[in-house]
Formats: sequence, C-alpha cells, structure tokens
Amino acid sequence: MHIAMVSAECAPIAKAGGLGDFVQGLSHELVNRGEWVEVLLPYYDVAKLDAVEDLCEVQPSLSVPHHDARIECRVLAGEIGGVSVRFIDPLGRDYFRRQRIYGEPDDAERFAFFSRAVLEYLLQSERSPDILHCHDWQTGLIPVLWSEVCKHSGLAEMRLCYTLHNLGYQGRVEEPILRQVGLDPARLMHSDRLLDPGDDRLANLMKGGIVFSHFVNTVSPRYAWEVQNTDQGMGLQSLFQTYAHKFGGVLNGIDDAVWNPERDPLIPVNFGPDTLPLKAVNRRALRTRVGLPEVDTPIFAVVSRLDRQKGVDLIRHAIRFLAAEACQLVLLGSALDPAIAEEFSRLKAETDDSAGCRLVLAYDEALAHLIFAGCDMLLIPSLYEPCGLTQMIAMKYGAVPIVRRVGGLADTVHDANYSDKPFVSRNGYVFDDPTEEGLEGALKRALGLWRRFPEYFRQLRVNGMRTDFSWRRPADRYRDIYAHVRSL
Ligand code: ADP
Ligand code: GLC
Repeated sequence: MHIAMVSAECAPIAKAGGLGDFVQGLSHELVNRGEWVEVLLPYYDVAKLDAVEDLCEVQPSLSVPHHDARIECRVLAGEIGGVSVRFIDPLGRDYFRRQRIYGEPDDAERFAFFSRAVLEYLLQSERSPDILHCHDWQTGLIPVLWSEVCKHSGLAEMRLCYTLHNLGYQGRVEEPILRQVGLDPARLMHSDRLLDPGDDRLANLMKGGIVFSHFVNTVSPRYAWEVQNTDQGMGLQSLFQTYAHKFGGVLNGIDDAVWNPERDPLIPVNFGPDTLPLKAVNRRALRTRVGLPEVDTPIFAVVSRLDRQKGVDLIRHAIRFLAAEACQLVLLGSALDPAIAEEFSRLKAETDDSAGCRLVLAYDEALAHLIFAGCDMLLIPSLYEPCGLTQMIAMKYGAVPIVRRVGGLADTVHDANYSDKPFVSRNGYVFDDPTEEGLEGALKRALGLWRRFPEYFRQLRVNGMRTDFSWRRPADRYRDIYAHVRSL
C-alpha cells in the first residue's frame, strides 16, 4: 500500500510536540511492515536536515494556485530510516522561513498554502497514493480540496484518513483563506460543511477535514468518547455524533528506536527492567547537569509544552508543594503563549537558587531524554490530553507517572492503589479533580510509597517498563482503517 502522510511535523526533522513523534513512529512501523510511506512536509528553515539521507531536488517547478495567481515551488526528497520524505519549498515566499514551526500570525495562510501545494504535487507528479493520511487543523483543507477540486482530476481512487491530535486548535479562519486555495465560500459556509459552530463568520478547517474524510480518528479511545460526549469536543460534539459511523479512537504508540532506555544514545548509561539499578547513574548525571545536590530524595519531573492544556496552574502548585516536602523537581518546558512564558520566567528567577528546584525554559531534545532516564516520577496534570506520550516514555524509562484521569492518560496509567487491574498492570498515580487538593492527594500517595515501601515502588517502575507501548498494535489498527477505507 502507498500511504502519504501529510503533517506540519515529523520527528526528528521538525518537532514541536507529540505530533512529530506520532508521524515518525507510525511511518516507521508501517515501513517495517512492508508498506510504502511518504511523509510530506513544508521545507522549514528550522528543519533538521542532517537527519535526512540523500536529500535532493526532485521537482524543480511545482506551480500552486494562490488567489488569482500561482506560487512556484520546488520539491525536495530524501529518506529517514526507510521512510521517504518530500519537502515543499515555495520560491520567493517566506512562509516556512520563520525560525519556528507555528505561532505566526499568518499560520492559517501558510498551512492552507501547504495543503493546496500537497494536492497539486500529487496531481502534477501523477502520484496517486492509496491513502492520504492528514493530521490536525493544518491539513484540514486537504480532504475538502480533494472532494471539491481534485476528485475529478486524477485522484479519484485515493482515500482520505484524518487524525485529530488536539481539538484545542481547530483552525478557525476567515473566508479569504478558502478563496486563497480556490474554494468557493458560498458552497462551503454551511452548517453541514465548514461553518464554525461557534461563530458563523468563520470557517473551521478541522470541521472540514472531518466532514470530507473517509475516516476520522483521534489518538485514544477515551478522548474519542470525551469529544463525543463532553465539552472536550470544544463545540464539535454533535459533529462527532453525526459522523460516529466513521469515527474512532486509536491509542498512540512510542517509537522503540527512539524511546528505548536499553539503546538510547542520548543517555549516559543504558538500562532496562533487569538492570534497573543502573538508572541511578542517569539520576546522578541529571543532577549534575541541572545543578541539584546528590541527596536521598526523589526527583519529580515535568517535560511539557507550557500550555493551559497541560495544567500550568497545577504545575506551579506542584513546584511549591514539592519544595515544602524537600523533594527535587526538574521542569523542561517551553511556552508559545507570552503570558505563560512570562509567568514561568518569573518562577524560574525565584527558584534558580533554591535547594531542590530547577526550571529549564527551552526546547531541548537531549535534555528531555536525560530527564526521562534520571527522574523518579513524571507529573502530567493535564486539563485535557488527547493521548499524551510523555507518560508512556516515562514508564519505559522506569519513572512513575502521576497524571489526571483524562483522555489517553486515563487509558494508559493505572493507579497503584485504586485500579481494578491486576498488580502487574498498575503503573502510576491518577487523580480526578483538576484542583490543588486533587493533585496533592496523588503526590502524597506517590511520595508515601517511595519513602515507606521502596520495594513496592520499584515494582511499580518495572510494571511500567514491561508494558508494550510500541507502535505494533496501533499500526495494526491503522492498517485495518486503511483497508476499510479502500473498500469503500
Ligand atoms: P503534546 O504533543 O501535547 O505536546 P505529548 O505528550 O504527546 O504532548 O508529546 C510531547 C513530546 O514533546 C514528547 O516527545 C516530549 O518529550 C516532547 N517535549 C515536550 N516539551 C519539550 C521540551 N521543552 N523539550 C524537549 N522535548 C519536549
Ligand atoms: C497532541 C496531543 C497529545 C498527543 C499528541 C500526539 O499534541 O496534545 O496528547 O499525544 O498530539 O498524538
């Protein structure tokens, strides 16, 4: 099967969060199963091209309609771990030369252009993948364009799958974005098409992707239920009910080749469930790296985008609570929102000289690996979480996650005390209320176990390390979905 993945991110080339890991991990696993996968990406100035093998220009002139004119592009191709990658580079436009992936005032225009360019590339190069698998709001226009423009001109056999990684970002845009790519707002600005349910002046690109794709999924079964039945649907609940026949939840995996403490080249000493004592070497290295003293107390960690979604107020509370408990805490985080960035800069200035707390306000892939390998517990107090990868990564690296019972966190973390699962499946701490009391309850239970029952705590780590979080099962599910849409 020929599968083209279209996304704003693909690790390690361009990654801002879990979407990058997802595209890398699923593509890699599909290639291992003998599928032909091509990832289509914008040619960002921040793309890490040293990871790409045999990069070369494959199409010097791709002409993409843009309002009443055209933008000329070139297409480059390369390979990463057996996965083909194609980059679209608009010439004479700075759309992807912004020193970052997202967060620009014209993001809608940039990614609408990319969406049109992807289809134009498939048409002009006469490629017709069996499956075009699109991700998040940035590519929501692709299924719409396919149905409105391309279906009749050579890509009729292609089937479209659309994966939703975050309903907090739906791509609510004004009509000119539709005209930019050659769509007719008069046809599409209706409640059963792209009209935003909350504002009838806006088009909702994610909604367009949902309406016009052959199959839609989100990244955990629990989040799929939440978006249909609770306000986590963020205005799209009834749409998910309408399209329940083509909607589901598939739990993400993590890529064994990237997130594996037994082989990870980015950590000082490799270890696994049978060599757990070696984790102590990584713990020491982490302390040295961030300047924390070597004392007999656990290291709690946060590795996260600092976004309201991630429960930033609760993270701030945890910092104070853990300081009072004489625990250590390392936070690695970066914020796009200026108000949150400022709050955390202030907190960093206050805690830099403290005995137990270090905030690193940056995006740092290597440090993230060291933190997972060195920390004892990872805190994820999200308000909502479509899947979440860091709890699974933490478990693989022998750290115990402390999470809120939402979305994929609820699907993957089973409480040490209250889960109805057998002991070998219990792997962390879960709390319900997004309040300081809720969070403290879980922190106290985790800390109590670490202090009083170290052997039981060790077993909890081992339970997490032994769980299969690989892409094997999820890749089976995606292949089933692909087979299903091809039969339509
Ligand atoms: P989300 O996609 O919502 O950000 P996930 O848990 O799915 O959350 O994935 C986050 C990914 O991004 C993980 O691979 C995590 O290690 C990484 N990450 C998050 N923040 C940082 C950071 N500041 N530096 C390095 N890696 C980070
Ligand atoms: C999003 C979600 C996260 C998920 C990731 C990959 O960024 O916030 O929960 O794990 O996508 O699917």
